[in-house]
Amino acid sequence: MEAPLLHPLKFRQKSDLSCGLSIYSNTQGCQRIGADARFIDVENSASPICVATARNHFIIGLTMHLFQAIRERRSIKSFDPAHRFSKDEEDLLIDLAVQSPSSFNAQHWRLVNVKDASLRAQIRSVAADQSQVTDASLLFVVCADLKAWQKGPERYFRNAPQDIQDLLVPWMGKFYEYNDLLQRDEGIRSATFIAHTMMLSAKAMGYDSCPLIGFDPIEVSKLVKLPDNHVIAMMLAIGKSTKPAWPKPGYVDRSEILFENTF
Ligand SMILES: Cc1cc2nc3c(=O)[nH]c(=O)nc-3n(C[C@H](O)[C@H](O)[C@H](O)COP(=O)(O)O)c2cc1C
Repeated sequence: MEAPLLHPLKFRQKSDLSCGLSIYSNTQGCQRIGADARFIDVENSASPICVATARNHFIIGLTMHLFQAIRERRSIKSFDPAHRFSKDEEDLLIDLAVQSPSSFNAQHWRLVNVKDASLRAQIRSVAADQSQVTDASLLFVVCADLKAWQKGPERYFRNAPQDIQDLLVPWMGKFYEYNDLLQRDEGIRSATFIAHTMMLSAKAMGYDSCPLIGFDPIEVSKLVKLPDNHVIAMMLAIGKSTKPAWPKPGYVDRSEILFENTF
């Protein structure tokens, strides 16, 4: 089912009918956008454009164009400490984030959403006093479970064709077993993918972000009670920027990063 696009005008109000069908009112009149929709509080959203998602992950409203989100995402240093995400916005962010790719679909990422203000302050004290840690609307410690490959791998392919399941599930064990370095690489890779999806999604929702590695990983591990066989890939602050980013720091010459066929 292709959901109709809403007109990109300002939305005046939303209503949620108990029958499960939902309506956004905009200056064009009411538009029904389907059952099982969940809503962004458009009036309180930082985004001038409307985003909504249904359980099957249709994006029903108009979001920022992907190319624009990629070009405009910046690592923001100052966030509005008074701003909070609504539950719906948080849900949307996570719904989008988990669409990220992962090797063998093992979804190694584990996200610690740090809500407690005193815990945030303690993390800041071991994160070079970076204000993003306490001031951003959301702070995720983006971790990875290094043993995800061992934990019921059949569920990672439960909707795949049987022949694919038969191939990949037994292969996965042989691929990772006895290879600690690969397990770690894969965890960090997956965590990085989800963090990047979150940064672009946040941008498309009208928010900003900052990935952070400037912290003491041992101390942060203790603070978030990181389980054994997990690593922290980075922290990720997401919220409403209060200061524009400085000019883009500069890109190295293409010839330094791009090679044809071989180095
Ligand atoms: C893994 C990673 C860790 C980072 N850690 C920090 C950090 O601790 N503090 C910070 O202010 N910026 C941090 N950054 C942001 C980078 O400095 C920034 O991405 C880079 O300068 C390019 O700028 P841009 O993201 O605005 O395009 C980090 C970025 C990455 C990818």
